[in-house]
Amino acid sequence: MNLAILGMGTVGCGVVEVLSMNKSKITGLIGEDVTISHVFVNNIHKERDVDLKDAKLTDNIEDLYGADDIDAVIEVMGGMEDTRDILKKFLEKGIHVISANKDMLAKYIDELTEVANAHDARLLYEASVAGGIPILHAIEHGLNANEIHKVMGILNGTTNYILSKMTNDGWDYEKALKESQEKGYAEADPTNDVGGFDAQRKIVLLSRLAYDRKVDIEEVPVTGISNVELKDIETAKKEGLILKLVGKSEFDGQGLSVEVAPVFLPADHQLSSVAYEKNAVYVNGNAVGETMFYGPGAGGPETASAIVSDLINCWRNAGRKQFNLTPQQTASVKPSQSSNKYFIRFNAAEADVKAHLAGLNVEYSVVDADSGTTVVTSPIDPEQLEKLKQNREYRIESIYQVEGD
Ligand SMILES: NC(=O)c1ccc[n+]([C@@H]2O[C@H](COP(=O)([O-])OP(=O)(O)OC[C@H]3O[C@@H](n4cnc5c(N)ncnc54)[C@H](OP(=O)(O)O)[C@@H]3O)[C@@H](O)[C@H]2O)c1
Repeated sequence: MNLAILGMGTVGCGVVEVLSMNKSKITGLIGEDVTISHVFVNNIHKERDVDLKDAKLTDNIEDLYGADDIDAVIEVMGGMEDTRDILKKFLEKGIHVISANKDMLAKYIDELTEVANAHDARLLYEASVAGGIPILHAIEHGLNANEIHKVMGILNGTTNYILSKMTNDGWDYEKALKESQEKGYAEADPTNDVGGFDAQRKIVLLSRLAYDRKVDIEEVPVTGISNVELKDIETAKKEGLILKLVGKSEFDGQGLSVEVAPVFLPADHQLSSVAYEKNAVYVNGNAVGETMFYGPGAGGPETASAIVSDLINCWRNAGRKQFNLTPQQTASVKPSQSSNKYFIRFNAAEADVKAHLAGLNVEYSVVDADSGTTVVTSPIDPEQLEKLKQNREYRIESIYQVEGD
């Protein structure tokens, strides 16, 4: 079997390593040797840590279009429209495609799936969500006897690392971000991670698969962690609450409520113990109940574990008529109507906020009164929340949802 790999960075090199490390097992499962026949990169002169001596290395994609011996393509180069167009060309030739590119897939997966289906090709993308955790396979295969109502996860290792450092070690945001960049978790421009956009892409892909609906990423609200202050984390910690960047979606058969935001979780919540660069996804199905999947969200060999697994699964099923899950309907995204508890820090003394909260029937307990007033409310509905935010007598310095009732 001849394999073309597009991109030979962290993940591409991880794929080469895994194919070599577990060669005999993988060959046995696939039923033939896997040869990396083509590698497409930006700079063919760059030193690489992996042995690519059997591969034709090129920076010209036309070389791959012209080849007639490619059986499957692994895309680990990133990019948006150009990459989509490249992958379409392979799918149109009936060549199976495996991609780790959540940025592109969250926007173009429906378009690519249609092309794949029209040409009996598979489009697999396990590595695009939560790196090494086989969560897409679990939803599409292991949990397919369930109606799924809820998916929730810690989907970004960089932000989880930063928040864990702030929570466990008392570091401020800037120091934690700097260290995560030094360790290679955060990129030089960390916007995609700390802005919540990476998690937004992943909750879109998860929701699409879990509920069998197309999801428009533009409709998914996102709040990142760049405004999180250490003092809120420390105050909440004393109350047994842990801050996590959570991607969450709930589907009732009609509307989809979906969001990415920093949320306080009770310390005994399953996701609270998911620390540092680890990821976890929680799925609730109507037959199985609560399930949780935990593991590495990134890294070369870790992500390659998911990619090579896709390769094996796609090849083992090669004789079967190909199919890819293809939602026909688009989910209507609606704001959540559920009541939630909130952690709120006001810039005012309790006496200044008390009457207003009472007027809105909002019960609360004060958790800190040293600078302004910090409260945790009882569950309040979206209308009460809106009125609470609109008040002009005090300023809300920070506000977070508290998971649990
Ligand atoms: N890193 C992770 O842990 C992880 C986890 C899950 C998913 N992903 C996804 O996997 C993909 C790759 O990530 P990575 O961390 O491996 O990236 P990376 O280390 O930056 O490597 C990117 C590779 O793609 C090549 N490349 C980029 N643009 C290209 C272009 N226009 N034409 C030809 N080659 C191009 C680069 O070539 P040169 O080497 O010549 O510069 C490089 O080899 C991304 O979509 C990412 O979101 C990554």
